[in-house]
Amino acid sequence: MTQFLTRSLFFSMFIVFRFCSSNGSDEQERTLGIIKPDGISGNYTERIKQVILESGFEISKEMVIQLDEENAANFYAEHSSKSFFTNLIRYMTSGPVLVMVLEKEDAVAHWRDLIGPTNAGKAKITHPHSIRAMCGVDLEKNCVHGSDSHQSAEREIAFFFKEAPSEDAVSQT
Ligand code: CMP
Repeated sequence: MTQFLTRSLFFSMFIVFRFCSSNGSDEQERTLGIIKPDGISGNYTERIKQVILESGFEISKEMVIQLDEENAANFYAEHSSKSFFTNLIRYMTSGPVLVMVLEKEDAVAHWRDLIGPTNAGKAKITHPHSIRAMCGVDLEKNCVHGSDSHQSAEREIAFFFKEAPSEDAVSQT
């Protein structure tokens, strides 16, 4: 009986320890969110920010900026060989954008879930509650941007907020 009680006590302590240590290791992650020119001109900014905050993100930095062609081309350099590149640069420079650093646990994946598929036209059918379904139009005019990985997020945040890129972002390139 005593042995049973001792074992139960150790087992309970083990469970409590695992629970506490897993909570303690929940790390905040950052990602970059952009409300694109159509999102701003369509007056979606406040609705999008409300969704962001209600989804548990902290908006730790934000700024409204008018991109010029050089900024936009540098930001989207990985797409420079794509057929849609010229139109993308025209779109991204057509008006101001709101750039935000969003923080929460697993922020990159959660933000991408929240914004939905790149093609806003398809998002309206497959992900009707997503942000792109709410305010995007099509594959190009998709209203919002989200970093596609932790490394991209750190690089993109450094691009806009002039931080030195973190070690893991640098090691990617
Ligand atoms: P974003 O998530 O910001 O990343 C690259 C952007 O390029 C994308 O959103 C769209 O705005 C645009 N884009 C991606 N694929 C295409 C495509 N096939 N045709 C036109 N625009 C595209």
